[in-house]
Amino acid sequence: MKIVACNSNQPLAEGISAYLNQPLTKAVVRRFSDMEVFVEIQENVRGEDTFIIQSTSYPANDHLMELLVTIDALRRGSARRITAVIPYFGYARQDRKSGPRTPISAKLVANLITVSGADRVLTIDLHAAQIQGFFDIPTDNLFAVPVFIENILENYNPKDLCIIAPDVGGVLRARSIAKRLNTDLAIIDKRREAPGQSEVMNIIGEVKERNCLLIDDIVDSGGTLCNAAETLISSGALSVDAYVTHGVLSGGAVAKVASSPLNSLVTTDSIAATEAFRVAKNVKHISIAPLLGEAVKRIHMERSVSSLFD
Ligand code: R5P
Repeated sequence: MKIVACNSNQPLAEGISAYLNQPLTKAVVRRFSDMEVFVEIQENVRGEDTFIIQSTSYPANDHLMELLVTIDALRRGSARRITAVIPYFGYARQDRKSGPRTPISAKLVANLITVSGADRVLTIDLHAAQIQGFFDIPTDNLFAVPVFIENILENYNPKDLCIIAPDVGGVLRARSIAKRLNTDLAIIDKRREAPGQSEVMNIIGEVKERNCLLIDDIVDSGGTLCNAAETLISSGALSVDAYVTHGVLSGGAVAKVASSPLNSLVTTDSIAATEAFRVAKNVKHISIAPLLGEAVKRIHMERSVSSLFD
């Protein structure tokens, strides 16, 4: 087995490598002076089962190109099998035509990865599960739920909790956590009555005097979470915390979260921490390196990946 790290998330790649007790393959992923991506794998990979670790996070286009070029380098180096390990799959929110003459970019990215020569994809909490079907190669979509449950049980008494889906699209994810913890579930239904008017937030479920845990797959601008936290507090919730798989946290999102009624935001390390993230007091990472490492091991040994979640 060979593990190759591109540039998006070196700490996570090192965590996976430590879990597998397998050093990262020597490789250079760099830029020419005009910013073209250049990759050189500095070890023999002929006949090897290879895994590339790369989130297509900010800057999404550069990181995507690094991934594609690295797949090509491994293919031309005669790797036996190439698995693209994409902890955060960027472009996933463009998974359908949002209007006339708009692209389905998630499908285009899936095509690019496949055409580059990837044999398999391994990812976690795809924004929409059906994106798996955009790939015509085997694609394993892991879930962060077990990692979150373990952390929630270490820090909260489930009896006091109410799990919250911050929008209707997140109900399945939130419900799977509520079911495992045997807690109540509430749903925030947000609607814009007319263009230009502010969103109306209705809460379906009882949150008064409850400790609320918001569950989502992505926090980007922070708007969804912070608005939800304000609505919950003004509806009588005692406290609001959040667990979100992918901390995109673009622009001033970390500052926005810091000044919101959210007590804390826990994300996985699918996206590397920025400096703002590292110094912020109410945000933290829990690592998915062991989960991804175990999945890589099972793929390599041709063992079941789904049984990780039994
Ligand atoms: C939406 O469908 C997603 O699950 C997230 O709720 C959304 O992407 C979060 O974005 P933001 O933090 O910018 O509100």
